[in-house]
Amino acid sequence: MLKIENLHAGVEDKSILKGINLEVKAGEVHAIMGPNGSGKSTLSSVIAGKEEYEVSEGSIIFEGEDIEELEADERAHKGIFLSFQYPVEIPGVSVTNFIKTAINETRKAKGLEEMPAKDMLKLIREKSDLLEIDRKFLSRSLNEGFSGGEKKRNEIFQMAMLEPKLAILDETDSGLDIDALRIVANGVNKLKSKNNAVIVITHYQRLLDYIVPDYVHVLHDGKIVKSGSKELAHELEEKGYDWIKEEVGV
Ligand SMILES: Nc1ncnc2c1ncn2[C@@H]1O[C@H](COP(=O)(O)OP(=O)(O)OP(=O)(O)O)[C@@H](O)[C@H]1O
Ligand SMILES: [Mg+2]
Repeated sequence: MLKIENLHAGVEDKSILKGINLEVKAGEVHAIMGPNGSGKSTLSSVIAGKEEYEVSEGSIIFEGEDIEELEADERAHKGIFLSFQYPVEIPGVSVTNFIKTAINETRKAKGLEEMPAKDMLKLIREKSDLLEIDRKFLSRSLNEGFSGGEKKRNEIFQMAMLEPKLAILDETDSGLDIDALRIVANGVNKLKSKNNAVIVITHYQRLLDYIVPDYVHVLHDGKIVKSGSKELAHELEEKGYDWIKEEVGV
């Protein structure tokens, strides 16, 4: 589904990603861990096509297509979804209207008609039930006055509605209480299928008890310095990152 080869990227003259290789197949869950500033959010932004980052070397192949030249919205239409570590507020636009627009934009890009209102309502009902989201919440302005947990829940709701092929969740666990963490993780697990894939970025092993990864990668200074099974996350929780640095000599 996603194949990243020797990816170098950065901003202006600062290089951040220094040769990332990563392959994610359909049906897989990959976790990316690593110290603050190692490039995790940059990697997700580069995959999603955020303009502020410049790719200087390497390639990102999504479903067999080099997506380098595609804009962020075109990538979203192809099924790449990125949750944000710091979500934006849009006053006056409700959660529901935002998602309706996003869905219809994607359909338009595929040459489809707008989703009939009846179907949209049904979908909203189904997904908000799945994620145990209060209907009242759906009529609030996007992210305005949302608590940290509400922002995260809203992102997962967007993901559930859009049904992306590749979902990248950047620190979805930060700010969630235990119940919300469970609900969000359950949502992600229920949406998982053999046709889609998830990349979870997290600092804590805790989330990975709920969303069990097939692979765990450790990013350090713009490179994946170690990959392993979910046990690697346990090891990191116990020992921190220093032993890896020693082991790989960085
Ligand atoms: N737009 C930008 N302009 C300047 N520097 C940037 C920009 N984006 C990222 N960086 C720098 O690149 C490095 C990697 O940042 P990034 O946000 O990818 O780290 P991270 O691994 O997600 O960290 P955290 O765990 O704290 O979220 C940091 O030193 C950061 O300051
Ligand atoms: Mg980050």
